[in-house]
Order: sequence, then structure tokens, then C-alpha cells
Amino acid sequence: MITTGEVDSLRTQVESWRRGGNVAFVPTMGNLHAGHLSLIEAAHKVADRVVASIFVNPLQFGAGEDFDNYPRTLERDAAMLAAEGTDLLFAPSVRVMYPKAQAEQTRVEVPGLSDVLCGACRPGHFVGVATVVCKLFNMVQPDIALFGNKDYQQLMVIRRMVQDLAMPVKIIGVETMRESSGLAMSSRNGYLSDGERAIAPVLYRVLTGVAQALREGSQDFAGLQAQAARELDDNGLRTDYVAIRNAADLLEPAAGEDRLVVLAAAFLGKARLIDNIEVAR
Ligand code: PAJ
Repeated sequence: MITTGEVDSLRTQVESWRRGGNVAFVPTMGNLHAGHLSLIEAAHKVADRVVASIFVNPLQFGAGEDFDNYPRTLERDAAMLAAEGTDLLFAPSVRVMYPKAQAEQTRVEVPGLSDVLCGACRPGHFVGVATVVCKLFNMVQPDIALFGNKDYQQLMVIRRMVQDLAMPVKIIGVETMRESSGLAMSSRNGYLSDGERAIAPVLYRVLTGVAQALREGSQDFAGLQAQAARELDDNGLRTDYVAIRNAADLLEPAAGEDRLVVLAAAFLGKARLIDNIEVAR
């Protein structure tokens, strides 16, 4: 595996690979787990070469969030990526990504989609995500990029950005990798104590219950959301939101809508957990 933090050598390498085949890209913030590796595996199935990036992006963290404490485990991550057959790891420094002061950095904003759900709780977060992903796409210049369904709203923001700005990158969403308890794998699960880890799977269990009720035809979206939030709170989580939305645009669904997604975010100790389940009915 080639590892570089420089844009010139990244571009030269990817350019030569693209002359003979296609290149898939998996952006990450590192501290890799099996969920990230499932994206690398999926990338190998759709492309000749696979590029991953590791960059903890300051622009997508709010004041008081965990940017400084976000786990940085580059050596271990690089070994995991190499073992998965990753062809190139791009691990730029903050100076390479953002040479200017943050206030002077051009930003990419996907309006509407960025302001609801997680965007309401984390103002500026999705501008930070869209900006860094746009910049990484321009640096790597991949044919295909893969993202996890686990961060459903993020995937929607990126799909919209690519469409609106006519970026020549095909976006693929990959199924959420879960622990046997159902808990979605996440770097932030590392913040949980043993006791909290035992509670955390409640999030997926509650979402599964809502998804089941929707599949059985329930139209009482408000009632299901309120009950699910109560169940999370009763089990020791602190609900940020439980929302039943249109799978396609995250708007509030009309009665009878048949492609839905149930999304939730809840605090548990120092962690903010998110998860979602898509429902076709
Ligand atoms: P990060 O949280 O490191 O996640 C990198 C990619 O892995 C994202 O596409 C995310 O959806 C996916 N992922 C995380 N947990 C997963 C799981 N359990 N199953 C499947 N995929 C999973 O998301 C980011 O980084 C950043 O916002 C980024 C897109 C890199 C921009 O900075």
C-alpha cells in the first residue's frame, strides 16, 4: 500500500491507475473498525484500485465537540487498510487540507437537507462534511466513492452535492455493519463505559420496533416517534430525535408513503449515537 499526505503524488498515482481501469474512494476519519473495512471490501468489488483517506476534519466539528479527543490511530489503521488490499492511503495534515484560516476557506452548502435532524443539533456540521468531501474528491479524482448508510443524512447530503454540482463521481451507499447485539459499529462507541455498552443496543431495538410497525401499515408517525423516544429515555439514553421521514429526501412523509426511513440520535454518557433503518412497504 502506498501512503502519502501530499496531493501531487496522490494525483500522479491515481491518474496513472485511471488510464488502465477505475478507481474507488473511501473517505474516513480513521480509528477504523469492521464497518469501515466493509466499505473497502465493497470498493474492491466495483473498482480495479481502492484509495482510502484518513483525515479528522476540523471543519465538521462544532465548538465543544470531540475534535481534540477524537481517537487518532494512524499506524493501526494503515495496517488494517493494507491487510484489506487498499492500494493507497491518503492521510493529509490539516495544513495540506486547510492552508488558510478557517474563516477564509470556501465552503460547500447543501441547503435544507443540512439543517434538519443531525444538522439541527450540530449547526455547520454538514457544511464541514460537504466541503471536505468535495475537496477530497478534487484531490483524489475517483470514479466511484462509497459511504455507509449508517450516516444516512450524510449520504443524502453527499448525493445531493454531487448532483447539484455535477461532480463526475458515482456514489454508492453500503449497508450498516452491526455488532451481534445490533449496535451499529462506530468509532464513537469507544467512548462508552461497559455499563453504557450494555444499554446501547436499545437504540437499534427501538428502531426495529418502529420499522416493524410501519411495515405492518401504521400511519401514526407522530405516535410512533413519541413512543420510541420515551422507550429510549426510559432505558437510560437521552433522546435527541426519533424521526420517520421519506427515504428519498428526508422530508416529513405523507400518509401512505411507501419508502420511509426511521432515524434516531441519542446521547449515552459522552457519546452521541445515531442509527437508522430503511422501510419499504
Ligand atoms: P467516519 O465516521 O470515519 O466514517 C467513514 C465512513 O464509514 C462513512 O461513510 C460512514 O458512514 C462509514 N461507516 C461508519 N460506521 C459504519 C458502519 N457501522 N457500517 C458501515 N459503514 C460505516 O463519516 C465520516 O467519517 C466523515 O464525515 C467523512 C465522510 C470522512 C468526512 O469527513
